[in-house]
Formats: sequence, structure tokens, C-alpha cells
Amino acid sequence: MKEYKPYQEDQLKILLTQEQIEEKVAELGKKISYDYAGKDLILIGVLRGSTYFMVDLTRRMRIPFAIDFISISHYSEQTDSAGVVRITKDLDLSITDKHVLIIEDIVDTGLSLGYLLRNLKTRDPADLKVCTLLNVEARRIVEVPVDYKGFDLPNIFVVGYGLDYNEKYRNLQFIAEFDRP
Ligand code: IMP
Ligand code: MG
Repeated sequence: MKEYKPYQEDQLKILLTQEQIEEKVAELGKKISYDYAGKDLILIGVLRGSTYFMVDLTRRMRIPFAIDFISISHYSEQTDSAGVVRITKDLDLSITDKHVLIIEDIVDTGLSLGYLLRNLKTRDPADLKVCTLLNVEARRIVEVPVDYKGFDLPNIFVVGYGLDYNEKYRNLQFIAEFDRP
């Protein structure tokens, strides 16, 4: 087979291994199943970063529930439109009177999540909570509730397990600090 260099490994420093992630996701799945037993639950994955987490988390759950996805774009990097967020793909299901759990890959500034919470609240869910795999308190601009979280991270940029740099590296089975060129 032809030799190839899978990633630019010098740019990646593993922070969370596949085993650490699996263990945490199993723990969260168990806790969420326990907390939501008997409730009409819908999990909402925020595209595209939460997809790997969503799939693994739901496979660790032992109660019935629905899943849906929403996609938002945020322009927090652009100074002239800081904090502007909009929905680019809305939910297909109604969340009115449902117990809703938002599934995020990472809560950073909190701008996306803050917007999402405000938007989803107007649809009158019975209950609205947040589960994120990663939490970066140090970069928070907007205060947002985090009801379930996997890991706290310092102020660094990470890729893998759904998280991207320019849409790449989402497929890594681990989470790594990434030195942006
Ligand atoms: P926010 O800053 O909390 O609004 O986060 C917005 C989105 O930016 C997250 O849902 C991620 O998709 C992305 N993001 C934030 N921090 C990182 C990171 O360290 N690596 C990759 N994506 C990130
Ligand atoms: Mg995201």
C-alpha cells in the first residue's frame, strides 16, 4: 500500500483519548437516561460539531426519545457582526410541550447557545436543558446554563470527535489541541 501521512501530527497534541471520551460519554448517557426516565424527551444536536457525540451518547442511553438536528451559523470571528447568529437549518420536529435537551460539542463564548436557547424557548417546550461535551469557561461572553458537561477545557483551540479546523479533522477519534497555522 502506498505510504501516506494521515495528519500533520506536529500540529496535534492529544488532550483527550478515545478511551477517556468513551468513558465520559457512557457516564453522561447513564445520567441522562436516569434523569429523563418517563419524560417525553427530544435531543437536539447542533450541526455539525455535535454529530459524533450525539451518536455515541444516544447509543449509551436506555430510555425512549426522539432526535432532531438544527444548524446555526455564527459570525463571532468577524468584528463587524460580532455575535450575530442565525438558523440555517431548522428542526423538523415540534418541541412544544417536550422535554428538550440540546447537545453541543463545545460551549465557548456562549453566543450560539444563548441564541439557540432564546429561539427554542419561544416554541414553548416543557423544559429546556443543555448537554455539552466540552466547556471553555475562560472564553465566555454570554452567561448560559450548562446542565450536563463532559470536560472543562482551558482557553485553547481543539479539533477531533466532531470539532473542526476549517471543516477538517472532525473524524479524529481523540480530541487534540490544534496549532492553527
Ligand atoms: P460559541 O463561541 O460558544 O458560540 O461556540 C460556537 C461554535 O464554535 C461551537 O459550537 C463550535 O462549533 C465552534 N468552536 C468553538 N471553539 C472551538 C474549538 O476550540 N475548536 C473547534 N470549534 C470550536
Ligand atoms: Mg457548534
